[in-house]
Amino acid sequence: MTPTLDLLEQRGDAVRMGRGLWVLRDFERLVERADFVGPAEFDERFVREHGIALGTVSGPITFRSNEELPVHRWWPYVQGYSAEFVARELGRAELDRGATVLDPFAGSGTSLVEARRGGARAWGTELLAPAVLAARVKTTFELPRIELRAGAERLLARARRARPGTLPFLRETVRQFSPEALADLLRLRDALPPEGTPSADAVRLAFGRVLIPSSRLHRSPCLGYRRGAAPPEPRPFDAFAAAVAEMEGDLETLAAARSAWGPPGRIERRDARQGTWPAESVDFAVTSPPYVNGMDYVMNYKVDLAWLGYANSYAELAALRSAEVACDNLPRAETAPYLATETPPDPWLAEILPRIRQNVRNKGTYRRDDVHAVVHRYFADLVPVLAGVRRALRPGGRFVLVVGDSLLAGTYVPGDLLLARLGARAGLEIVSVEVARRRRSGQRRSFELRESVITLAKPRSGSPRKRAARR
Ligand SMILES: C[S@@+](CC[C@H](N)C(=O)[O-])C[C@H]1O[C@@H](n2cnc3c(N)ncnc32)[C@H](O)[C@@H]1O
Repeated sequence: MTPTLDLLEQRGDAVRMGRGLWVLRDFERLVERADFVGPAEFDERFVREHGIALGTVSGPITFRSNEELPVHRWWPYVQGYSAEFVARELGRAELDRGATVLDPFAGSGTSLVEARRGGARAWGTELLAPAVLAARVKTTFELPRIELRAGAERLLARARRARPGTLPFLRETVRQFSPEALADLLRLRDALPPEGTPSADAVRLAFGRVLIPSSRLHRSPCLGYRRGAAPPEPRPFDAFAAAVAEMEGDLETLAAARSAWGPPGRIERRDARQGTWPAESVDFAVTSPPYVNGMDYVMNYKVDLAWLGYANSYAELAALRSAEVACDNLPRAETAPYLATETPPDPWLAEILPRIRQNVRNKGTYRRDDVHAVVHRYFADLVPVLAGVRRALRPGGRFVLVVGDSLLAGTYVPGDLLLARLGARAGLEIVSVEVARRRRSGQRRSFELRESVITLAKPRSGSPRKRAARR
């Protein structure tokens, strides 16, 4: 321990929270601050206003549980959720064979794979092109192994003969890879077939998958340079061949259950906020939207975007970031219309947003001074998605969402309860909110956050009041 920490601890100004982690007492006492409204208060209000107490649900919820699962492991997506969770929810929904399942924020296609495996027609929208590629390949169950193998062998043969081509536009590329790995990746990239056929897409995905393991980077979950831990995979050619071999084996496993598959699905690279799914075309929707002020997907997947040719400049990356649901790195111009806090999409936000703004002002040195506007836009972004899913659901259909709460600028934001309330404002009934996992705040490790499963339902007919009268 350094003399300064020693002194702070003796004075009672710092507390030890874990190995090497110290927290100023002032931070730890967050919940004692007079103006702090924490989870317990919001949970009570939720019971008062909606008559629903939070439940709990067990079982894995994060993508980690997919890492060894056939097909799901083809593109490890740290931000994804658990296939087991999706399978359980689909089971609970008791869908007919061929029913349509929608995931508006489909990511790498966890919901879509499970839906199709279980006999449903899977439909997803997603903006991040490498994730769209992953979801498309992972749901093309009928890809012949032999075609995949032949496509991969052609690629390897072409790459072995090629000379390394030009670097992608990312300024840090040379720092991100060893010279040997970089040369091999450039040769593989230049030998890639154009997108469009199932085997070409699968080969492109296998290439995408080896990028980060072959680099000096890792995602934990944000993209950053590795420190000390596992060294990068030395040989991109070998890593690519291993990825293809794994896919081949998984295709065989899949084929054994062919009779259970649902019809081919659809994954579209499209903004879920446009919410233009046809009315009453969906039997069940399940998703995990971005979290409040959470991941900057564009920053985190810029290497994949650039190397797979989905983005060719920083301007293209910025345009994609602006189309995604608001995250903390949104340019100020995008938050400008959300600086005012008077008319947010939910009355709770009319209390929360000014509190965030005030805390940022009090602190004086926060990362950005428009955090409240980012949060405002985040919820505003989800409003049309909820409305679109409501319209798309058949009466009685359910919409299940996994989302977390947040602590921002010393203000607690009950993202799960707010989303449930926005669902209710969009005309869906709140069936339940169940806590699935506890986690630590990135801002204050001593503060416990959670991830919850929200279940909403489209009313069968009429207004809730009319239905209550009929009962
Ligand atoms: C939490 S992830 C979903 C992961 C997914 N459940 C899985 O298992 O792979 C949220 C996704 O929403 C996507 N997204 C963000 N804004 C979007 C928008 N406006 N339209 C469509 N997708 C969007 C992100 O790119 C990200 O992949």
